[in-house]
Amino acid sequence: MKGLISLAGQTKGELEAVLTRADGYARHLEDRSAIEPVLKDVVVTSAFFEPSTRTKLSFDRAAKTLGATVLDFNPDLSSLVKGEALRDTLLTLEAMGTDILIVRHQDDDAAWLASDWMGVPVINAGAGKAEHPTQTLLDLLTLRRHFGELSGLGVGIVGDVKDSRVAAGLVDVLPLFEMDVHLIAPEEFLPEGSPVVELDEMLTDLDVVYLLRIQHERGALRPPRYMERFQMNADRARRLKETAVVMHPGPMNRGVELTDDVADSPRSLILEQVRNGVPTRMAVLDLVAENMS
Ligand code: NCD
Repeated sequence: MKGLISLAGQTKGELEAVLTRADGYARHLEDRSAIEPVLKDVVVTSAFFEPSTRTKLSFDRAAKTLGATVLDFNPDLSSLVKGEALRDTLLTLEAMGTDILIVRHQDDDAAWLASDWMGVPVINAGAGKAEHPTQTLLDLLTLRRHFGELSGLGVGIVGDVKDSRVAAGLVDVLPLFEMDVHLIAPEEFLPEGSPVVELDEMLTDLDVVYLLRIQHERGALRPPRYMERFQMNADRARRLKETAVVMHPGPMNRGVELTDDVADSPRSLILEQVRNGVPTRMAVLDLVAENMS
């Protein structure tokens, strides 16, 4: 794997190879068995231009667990504030010994640009509204570990689909695993031309209710009657299949897209997703490093 900017064009087999490696790391982390420091002597720099809790810290933990030296670039405290161009900043990070760059940025094409400018592999940790490939992979790992067989699962993606890079990744990749994806949202939150689907109509068909936050920082506003129509609450949870699960990439806005009782219920795989973020990012870093040597 030469960096990871997008999952577009990857085959089911290629994705499964990443998941299998991630699953192996998940088991090592669970039983606390020794992990080979395959990133010893590798410098991993993370550059996050948008806030992050889960993605940033799990990449950190993943890189350190594999033995890497981790540099943390903070744009707000950097010379970007003094007017330095992004390209010059990234070339500076490379000249300082960065072997792998992890980047999150508000622009859809920033990870692509970084990869064009730099001679080192780039991993996209979330690009604008475009894609968030390691989130997609950790979601697949979570589904695979929970359900075993993915084929035929009905997945409802509920909320601000239009502004969500997480949704964009799921919509592209879940069908490769023969899952049925349903976009469930008001008109304001759907791509042009997508039919409006009410959550109540879909509840009994879904195996996975994947909830999304409203992306206010990308200009999204909460439509009228949003919670009444699209909030996952206890009453709706009661109408789901007994085996259905609730997922969310985080951060949750409790009381908006879901209620406390749903977020904290046994159906919720939300913290399981967070847990799976570490081995998923270990697998990606490992595969990228393998390709460098
Ligand atoms: C998501 C993101 O940043 O795209 N969070 C994450 O990485 N887990 C989702 C979001 O911010 O709504």
